[in-house]
Amino acid sequence: MLETRHLSDPVHIPANRNAPPLITVDNLSLWYGEKQALDRISFDLYDQEILAFIGPSGCGKSTALKCLNRMHDDTRGVRIEGRIEMEGGDIHHPDIDPPQHRRRFGWVAQKPNPFPASIWKNVAYGAEIHGLTKNRADLETHVESCLRRAHLWDEIKDDLHRREGADLSGGQQQRLCIARALATEPDVLLMDEPTGSIDPIATAKVEELMLEIKMDHSVVVVTHSMMQAARIADRVAYFHLGRLLELGPAATIFAGASTPEARSFIAGKFG
Ligand SMILES: Nc1ncnc2c1ncn2[C@@H]1O[C@H](COP(=O)(O)OP(=O)(O)O)[C@@H](O)[C@H]1O
Ligand SMILES: [Mg+2]
Repeated sequence: MLETRHLSDPVHIPANRNAPPLITVDNLSLWYGEKQALDRISFDLYDQEILAFIGPSGCGKSTALKCLNRMHDDTRGVRIEGRIEMEGGDIHHPDIDPPQHRRRFGWVAQKPNPFPASIWKNVAYGAEIHGLTKNRADLETHVESCLRRAHLWDEIKDDLHRREGADLSGGQQQRLCIARALATEPDVLLMDEPTGSIDPIATAKVEELMLEIKMDHSVVVVTHSMMQAARIADRVAYFHLGRLLELGPAATIFAGASTPEARSFIAGKFG
């Protein structure tokens, strides 16, 4: 079962605030055609932290997440204003190669979406196309290491080539998708309601994994579960109607948000 941690319990190593942020989002606005979905949002993302996006549906959380890896590039009618810097450089600068930029991010969706291929291929594919390993032995070591990091190896090591990703349970599929995301060695993991469609035990496993992954990655997670945000997030960003109304340490926000909108949203979700 999920255990409930007290909000003030130290659950993780705090992000390294002495280092500059990995990503800085400055006054970012986004329109889908005429409709404005983000209104001048600003936030930083640090190494070794989990930043949770919370807020009502339709308030721009997924839209903001997709800005970071330029996932809107190919969506017609999208217009973006403002600036996103990664390691000090503008991610929209003409010299930036979008596929190379995107490679620095892993994406985990709400519904586990393994490729229609073997477990092994699901993880090996990204490493192969990016030429991350020198030879077959190297690739095998890499696949094993990703599956171990996703806490899946022991459950499936005898079925790597025999079973398809889709044959696994929902929770296993989600851990497979995390292994696949790790396989391209990203700096940042973007997770859009990663436990939204799996059961509580599978959720606990994914949360445990996220706390390990953040030791050497940044993680941005959209979640509808305030309990989840309280358990795993270092910082929480509250979105409301396309604006980022509040951003701060999870414990601070949950103990007493400063805007009435965030307070009533959190009270409703916890209550
Ligand atoms: N591809 C799209 N085209 C047009 N409008 C969109 C598109 N994606 C999202 N929206 C709209 O943008 C707003 C923000 O959506 P989204 O970022 O998905 O919110 P959230 O993730 O917080 O639920 C919503 O009003 C949604 O309907
Ligand atoms: Mg969403």
